Amino acid sequence: MAERLVIDPITRIEGHLRLELETDGGKISKAWSETTQFRGIETIVKDRDPRDVWAFVQRICGVCTGVHAIASISAVEDAIGSNVPEQARLIRDMVLGSQEVQDHVIHFYHLHALDFVNAANAADADPAKAVEFAEAIGSHWRGNTLQRMTEVRDTVKAIVDSGQLSVFTGGYWDHPDYRLPPEANLMAVAHYLDALEFQRSMIRIGTVFGGKNPHPNFLVGGMACTIDPNKSESINQVQIDQIQQWVDETYDFVVNCYVPDAMAIAGVYSDYFDIGASTPNYLAVGLSGAVFSGNPAESRATSAHTAVAPGVIYDDDFGTVHPFDPAKIEEWITSAWYTYEGGDIGLTPDKGETTVAYTGPQPPYTGAPNDGLPWLADQEKYTWCKAPRYDGRPMQVGPVARVLLAYARGHELTKQLVDDAAATLGITLSQINSTMGRTLARAVECLISAKALKEETFPNFVARLRSGDIDVFDSTRWEPSSWPAECSGYSFVEVARGNLSHWVTIKGGKVERYQAVVPTTWLAGGRDAQGQQGPYEESLAGNGQHPLVDAAKPLEPLRTIHSFDPCMSCAVHVLDPSGEELQAVVA
Ligand code: NI
Ligand code: CA
Repeated sequence: MAERLVIDPITRIEGHLRLELETDGGKISKAWSETTQFRGIETIVKDRDPRDVWAFVQRICGVCTGVHAIASISAVEDAIGSNVPEQARLIRDMVLGSQEVQDHVIHFYHLHALDFVNAANAADADPAKAVEFAEAIGSHWRGNTLQRMTEVRDTVKAIVDSGQLSVFTGGYWDHPDYRLPPEANLMAVAHYLDALEFQRSMIRIGTVFGGKNPHPNFLVGGMACTIDPNKSESINQVQIDQIQQWVDETYDFVVNCYVPDAMAIAGVYSDYFDIGASTPNYLAVGLSGAVFSGNPAESRATSAHTAVAPGVIYDDDFGTVHPFDPAKIEEWITSAWYTYEGGDIGLTPDKGETTVAYTGPQPPYTGAPNDGLPWLADQEKYTWCKAPRYDGRPMQVGPVARVLLAYARGHELTKQLVDDAAATLGITLSQINSTMGRTLARAVECLISAKALKEETFPNFVARLRSGDIDVFDSTRWEPSSWPAECSGYSFVEVARGNLSHWVTIKGGKVERYQAVVPTTWLAGGRDAQGQQGPYEESLAGNGQHPLVDAAKPLEPLRTIHSFDPCMSCAVHVLDPSGEELQAVVA
């Protein structure tokens, strides 16, 4: 007999996500991914100056922050024909790269690790054994000292003894599937705290070039910062030396702390390489940080990250990479609260429409999630998230898609890291498509990105600067009089959570149409007209085997959903015009 279960809200993500599940005999049989928040960014940029739009769309999200600005300026530059100078592209690469690494570190430690690490249990650990555990897993992090582990153990113990768990309140700490010994939990909590310091430190790279964080400053045609080693008022040798230090620290943290921790968790929870497999189709335009202003096949302005060409993989066939064609992207609204003029069809983003048509239950909701809330999935429409499809298929985007594409394309470092990890963990390539595979893939690409920042992007920028290249702005297309009367453009950017594209049509110097297709939209969207589930839904209910041992403590589906690193603000970037809350969700 199937039982119904609602998890609402899902915590330790960005924004608002609700899951409705049916379970049968301790397994998930059906799943619905429901985005319950509605905003309004695509519509408010209509009729604005396209040179200003980056500042609006960047506010789609405070977590993903600069990525939407870079996607926006790249789409506008494609439309108006601006050629961004190399130094400005390298600066954007550094801002994107540092943001991505920060995002992955925050995800692993602060959003995902507590699905596997029992924070409360760290109070019982022997600090000396925690140091030994760190050595045993190959962690050479400088925080692995007896003094530090003792400090953290005492702090956790004081918190647990006080009965007020603070940020750790509400965890399922007595769930039987927390498997790490106390010393491993202590080491992980210590690294959790170190990662808090680290993420604050490393995002300053973006702050130097963009003036502030979140939401750094950008510029259509280049960057808004000036660079000159010999001038005190521009980015000069003082900042360069600082950035060098942060770039080095970033690499150190990723190599010596994050990657060994991720490998250790993957080893202990290796059955999660057989849980949470999602849609076996993958889309990426390259490694993390890749940027294309226009069609990748003929793009003028790309980032420096071109080592892996764009491509698409279908049905786990890693021997065949299909060329990527932007025209094959369509968004469906079969299960989403919108209407299209043409009815229930797929629309390419350059023709995309954002017309709201809410048909769900009357807000505010009352009562506990599993007792009295309406069951949204009883209706055809149950989410604010559109359902993007490529060539008619749901696709996975993100670290898994990028790592599998890079592997299939023969990217040496990716192959080496994946082969080493697979040998250590005893897994196959197709098992990367799993709950733990997503977590492993994120760590692998984070290492590649941190290395690229340290060994390529930053040194290239400094070398060009030393040779006198201080040009960061193409002024030739700044004036709207230099633009065609009507033009359109788009961009693709590989950001932390996956493939991001922005699409703009400009008419008479103003934005006529604007659409953003965001990684979490690709992943969190619901069913389409063909009845195909979105990737979140597929990961939970794709094969009827996903465990859920105790409906009162749904730790297992949280592990799987967290492995995608959901960002719901990004997924549905569309505010009620009156600014009112459309629904209240009761925890
Ligand atoms: Ni976001
Ligand atoms: Ca959109």
